[in-house]
Amino acid sequence: MPFAVHIRKRRPTAVKLQSGVDMEEHRKQWENFYQRHQNKFFKDRHYLEKDWGQYFCECDHNTTNRKIILEAGCGAGNTIFPLANKYPQLYIHACDFSHHAITLVKSHPSFLEDQINVFVCNIAEENLCDHIRPASVDVVTLVFTLSAVSPEKMPIVIQNLGLVLKPDGHVLFRDYAIGDYAQVMLMNKNQVISENFYFRGDGTCSFYFSEDLLSKLFKRAGFIVVDVNTYNREIINRARNITMQRRWIRAVFRRP
Ligand SMILES: C[S@@+](CC[C@H](N)C(=O)[O-])C[C@H]1O[C@@H](n2cnc3c(N)ncnc32)[C@H](O)[C@@H]1O
Repeated sequence: MPFAVHIRKRRPTAVKLQSGVDMEEHRKQWENFYQRHQNKFFKDRHYLEKDWGQYFCECDHNTTNRKIILEAGCGAGNTIFPLANKYPQLYIHACDFSHHAITLVKSHPSFLEDQINVFVCNIAEENLCDHIRPASVDVVTLVFTLSAVSPEKMPIVIQNLGLVLKPDGHVLFRDYAIGDYAQVMLMNKNQVISENFYFRGDGTCSFYFSEDLLSKLFKRAGFIVVDVNTYNREIINRARNITMQRRWIRAVFRRP
């Protein structure tokens, strides 16, 4: 019964994960990240329409039949605002465990209360059904969020997403792939927490996925793999005289 998993409510004290990452400490690092960078760190993700436009389009433009999206780990809104602008008929739920990130989303000039429902939620600890009707979401976007979750907590996050997805709903995934330039740098600096999981200089953590591990995680939670691919791009920084191999995975999973 992969979608009948009980997810515990918020725990009163910080939880020490097997990997040695303290959950409350981890959340605080992201809180500090948004205090420091505000909404200036990530660029708006305008490629989502090109990659996944078919999942956001409405067949009919009847507003009583709006497609419902959940952006899990929305940060300052770099995924939701390009989507909201391009597809005004979408209704978007968006959550993050950083209070400051949620404040940034609410104060964005494109924030519209009747289009976007934004809330604080730790998707590794709180049941999403406390915020969103079960089985009501058409599409979950998971964009550079699962890599920020400790590997031990990834299965519970994926199950949590499954609880709010409609049958035949999709998870659209984009995140770091094994062999990415940043992973090599973190490995060289010996910032390893566990296999393929690292802490960065700013205290946040980052996991690097293989197609195989990612597919297994979703299959174990009862999802069907629709598509999974790894992409590479060589980026040359002439000022620093370095060539960076950036690698990321793009995947689509369907809830049966
Ligand atoms: C790299 S950012 C990506 C933000 C956004 N998805 C985007 O497209 O720009 C990762 C986000 O995941 C959030 N996050 C990490 N673990 C989380 C958790 N357990 N629950 C909710 N949000 C989490 C962080 O606060 C951060 O905003």
